[in-house]
Amino acid sequence: MARSVIEERLRNAILDGRLPCGLALRQQELATLFGVSRMPVREALRQLEAQGLLQVVHHKGAVVAPLITGDAAETYGLRILLESEALRLSIPRLREADFDTALTIIEALEQETDFKEMGRLNRLFHMALYSQAPNQRLLRLAEQGLAEEERFLRFNLSAMGLGKLSQDDHRDLLAAVRQRDTTLAVELLTLHLQRGIDAITRYLSQGGTHD
Ligand code: NI
Repeated sequence: MARSVIEERLRNAILDGRLPCGLALRQQELATLFGVSRMPVREALRQLEAQGLLQVVHHKGAVVAPLITGDAAETYGLRILLESEALRLSIPRLREADFDTALTIIEALEQETDFKEMGRLNRLFHMALYSQAPNQRLLRLAEQGLAEEERFLRFNLSAMGLGKLSQDDHRDLLAAVRQRDTTLAVELLTLHLQRGIDAITRYLSQGGTHD
């Protein structure tokens, strides 16, 4: 079995909660389960770690990463820094096709009622705006933050009682980006992410589940 197949199966199991947060994944057990040597398993685990789905913990090895918890404000604070910079670098290089992609995603988000899909589309929308930033390492970090949020929303969005989310933030942000007004765009992005912090902090303080 190829490394990519193992990676895909493990990713899906983490995303839908079959492999719960904090669970240690043992290379030898997985190799036996998949009927392969340890090498492709090790590679798959490394990929999932790079995507922020696994964390290497001393003495335990690779464990399923926690969802955003009490440090939501810190998590989002870092995201504001990373994503503002990615947006700033990307704006002068974005093309018409990128604007079209972003608009198509907003329209899809307005129709979507499945929370899993909404998290994925939100990540794709943001990445479309950052996509032309030339710093690949920065883009990877920005995408990791979005993936972390996507995972949190999968488990919690319905419990947060947000229902159908308005896409006003995304539309305003896209309009500023289209005008290549970097200052306004960064300001709107910051407000948008700040709203995320507020919603998640409020939800967690009311005792929302976070594992
Ligand atoms: Ni968003």
